[in-house]
Amino acid sequence: MPDSSSISARKSDHIRINLEQDVRSGLTTGLENYRFIHRAMPELDLSDVDLSQQVFGKRLQAPILISSMTGGNEEAAGINRLLAEAAQATGIAMGLGSQRAAIELPDLAPTFQVRQVAPDILLFANLGAVQLNYNYGIAECQRAVDMIQADALILHLNALQEAVQPEGNTHFAGLADKIETICKALPVPVIVKEVGWGFSEQDARRLADAGVSAIDVAGAGGTSWSQVEMHRAKDESQARLAAAFINWGIPTAEAILNVHRAAPELMIIASGGLRSGVEIAKCIALGANLGGMAGPFLKAAARSSEAVIQTIQEIQREVQVTMFAAGARGIDQLKSTPLNHE
Ligand SMILES: Cc1cc2nc3c(=O)[nH]c(=O)nc-3n(C[C@H](O)[C@H](O)[C@H](O)COP(=O)(O)O)c2cc1C
Repeated sequence: MPDSSSISARKSDHIRINLEQDVRSGLTTGLENYRFIHRAMPELDLSDVDLSQQVFGKRLQAPILISSMTGGNEEAAGINRLLAEAAQATGIAMGLGSQRAAIELPDLAPTFQVRQVAPDILLFANLGAVQLNYNYGIAECQRAVDMIQADALILHLNALQEAVQPEGNTHFAGLADKIETICKALPVPVIVKEVGWGFSEQDARRLADAGVSAIDVAGAGGTSWSQVEMHRAKDESQARLAAAFINWGIPTAEAILNVHRAAPELMIIASGGLRSGVEIAKCIALGANLGGMAGPFLKAAARSSEAVIQTIQEIQREVQVTMFAAGARGIDQLKSTPLNHE
């Protein structure tokens, strides 16, 4: 297992590569194939369109999540603080990056702690699900939640990313049962999330049976972690292995439909390549409750705190105008708004 300093160094690599390189998937999200039916007579006032909803006991002012990204070193601490301040100012949700580094080395915990600047937001802790096969259990999951006073825990699944990196943790056998144990024991909701390759119906059904409270589909069409690993590769052969997977994964639109079919009652977080409020609204009409973005918020955070707030406000306004022009007064109505498929 790599030590904590190597995890911190890897986090810096991830931020740098995501900011400097083109790491997009070769696939698109599939959302471009869906269109709302325009309502010339929405029979609504724009100002009456309500984007708010209750999620895990917290009120969100808009169906937007800053997806799990970082923590574990000083640079990441600054990014987390800035993102959290913006989430607090706008009333949206946020996930922290994998907290494994701080579980191994508690001195790193402050790089994840954002409650001082974001006391009210819906906040998600994060660990790699595969760590459950590397001596992590209920105690580590609880520590991740307590460390940041989280409202829920995300366990991320990144089998392909681990498989194309030399230091990868690739022991993925038997994870479903371990996830089930965590769901039963943890007092907060457990969300399971991909990192950019989506979920099949089969996997979504198994996770629903395991008792997860939500699935974040993190489908293909946005940040590709095999592409990120290609840029981190130490030799040509390793780079070629990672590059072979540029077109891998289940596009975000398809992944939402898969989860919705497999577990119609389950909360769905849509993410993976979402780049506008119109796209978030489409995801909700396809069955999601909210939409997450990672790459775009990282790029805004690299500019300034104002840039993050402005990005959130622009996305929020796009969701609102989409709902208005599609005739949906609230999130529940948006969920049952039809989409044309081309
Ligand atoms: C710099 C960076 C770091 C990330 N680290 C994590 C992580 O620690 N845990 C996790 O679950 N997902 C992580 N992700 C994945 C995102 O949460 C998201 O699922 C993925 O990037 C797809 O969304 P996007 O296309 O909007 O970027 C990271 C993404 C970025 C850009």
